[in-house]
Amino acid sequence: MHTMIVFSQHSKKHSMSVKPGEYELPVKKKDLVPIDLKSVWEAMEECQALGLTKSIGVSNFSCKKLETILSTAKIPPAVNQVEMNPMWQQKKLRKFCDEKGILIESYSPLGAKGTLWGTNRVMECELLKEIAQAKGKSLAQVCLRWAHEQGVCVLVKSFNKERMKQNLDIFDWKLSAEESCKISQLPQCKGFPAGEFVSDDGPYKSLEELWDGEI
Ligand SMILES: NC(=O)c1ccc[n+]([C@@H]2O[C@H](COP(=O)([O-])OP(=O)(O)OC[C@H]3O[C@@H](n4cnc5c(N)ncnc54)[C@H](OP(=O)(O)O)[C@@H]3O)[C@@H](O)[C@H]2O)c1
Repeated sequence: MHTMIVFSQHSKKHSMSVKPGEYELPVKKKDLVPIDLKSVWEAMEECQALGLTKSIGVSNFSCKKLETILSTAKIPPAVNQVEMNPMWQQKKLRKFCDEKGILIESYSPLGAKGTLWGTNRVMECELLKEIAQAKGKSLAQVCLRWAHEQGVCVLVKSFNKERMKQNLDIFDWKLSAEESCKISQLPQCKGFPAGEFVSDDGPYKSLEELWDGEI
């Protein structure tokens, strides 16, 4: 499988990729190169037209990046896979994607505790702990139920069979209006700013540029 990383584009022409060949995460700053997003998207549209894929989508796109793609796309992105959890709720992006008919897919819905890119903030959030305790659910289930109730597609990862079962057990109960309201007021902080994609010699010189100010 070939992975294309398209993180941002500040001007009309530039987005970012990694030099072809083998690479490991975290990527090396010297390997960051610009790409022409318009022609990459055209090639992806061709893949769909040829029946090589059912649908095409993007990941980590801001509203601004999506707008740029939509300005020339014949096929709009089906999905935008982005970090989303109670501590980084993506309200602006979700509204934009709703209006454009682009499905949001929530990655790191538990904050990705224990990974290279993760944070403990979600799994250690006092409010989420209180809600979980009051409902007799795990904190992870509260996060997943919350994301599900926002109408997004939820992408959680576990290698543990019991936790996989637990993560699926979120469909026959719901959060109260009061609980949802409290979660919606949690202070926001992006868990994965992706500073490794910022470089003085690369296409993006600051996090503001990388995320088009949406950070
Ligand atoms: N497009 C992108 O840029 C991007 C970036 C990051 C991630 N992703 C994708 O999103 C997927 C999920 O996100 P993620 O792995 O970053 O974060 P996540 O799903 O929020 O968190 C995964 C971590 O939570 C643990 N966990 C899972 N279920 C749990 C539960 N019920 N209770 C307690 N801990 C639990 C897992 O450990 P165990 O395995 O031990 O259960 C793992 O350490 C990834 O597999 C990846 O494919 C995409």
